[in-house]
Amino acid sequence: MHLSVWRGAGGSGAYRTYEVPRHPSQTVLDAVTYIQRELDPTLAYRYACRVGMCGSCAMTVNGVPRWTCRTHVDKVVRNQRLEISPLRNLPVIRDLVTDMSGFFDKWARAKGHFRGAKDRRDDFSRVSPLDEKRKQADAGIECIGCGVCYAACDVVAWNPDYLGPAALNRAWTLINDVRETENSERSRAVAGDAGCHSCHTHMSCTEHCPKGISPTAGISGLKRMLFSAVFKDAL
Ligand code: SF4
Ligand code: SF4
Ligand code: FES
Repeated sequence: MHLSVWRGAGGSGAYRTYEVPRHPSQTVLDAVTYIQRELDPTLAYRYACRVGMCGSCAMTVNGVPRWTCRTHVDKVVRNQRLEISPLRNLPVIRDLVTDMSGFFDKWARAKGHFRGAKDRRDDFSRVSPLDEKRKQADAGIECIGCGVCYAACDVVAWNPDYLGPAALNRAWTLINDVRETENSERSRAVAGDAGCHSCHTHMSCTEHCPKGISPTAGISGLKRMLFSAVFKDAL
């Protein structure tokens, strides 16, 4: 098959084409790795776990953001061709490697860290799996920080300050964690111009998330929560 791979750095570059042999159960990451190991050792790309855990292997494959270690070539190849480029909405460091710092800075701005009240001498908190808030927290907790949703979001493309689907999903997950102690600060962080009200509910993040998470649902939850808080203050 023919792989057209984006090569370049510093805002300029071009596609270069490589011939890669097909194998049964071959993933897109396998094909990119073949190029780096057998054809061109200067190709820069990123991966770690190869099993859908670390979130580092995301790329744009035939125009669609995907986790490449869990994407089979058979599923995405068209006429024996694949086009691979870096994730959208992130600066490119080199070839297929993007700079994720802005993405994770937004997690920090959305207060994406857990802060509980207990320490290691305390007993475990017991939260029933039937608890409604826990169900909402569980719905977003498996995020692996891959950036696929962020690359799929047009609002991030138009407004680089927008916190984006992953950071807002993380904020909603923590807001529903009954052990969390910093939800007032978190609510303020997601209420500003760059927060949940900027989401246009395009659902693109939800359609592409490889973990089956719906950041759109979480963002709607944040909007409802903030609306109720304003309504309560007005009474
Ligand atoms: S639903 Fe909101 S966050 Fe998700 S892609 Fe659309 S605008 Fe972006
Ligand atoms: S919400 Fe999904 S697509 Fe977005 S960073 Fe998390 S796992 Fe990746
Ligand atoms: S290499 Fe870790 S998620 Fe793909």
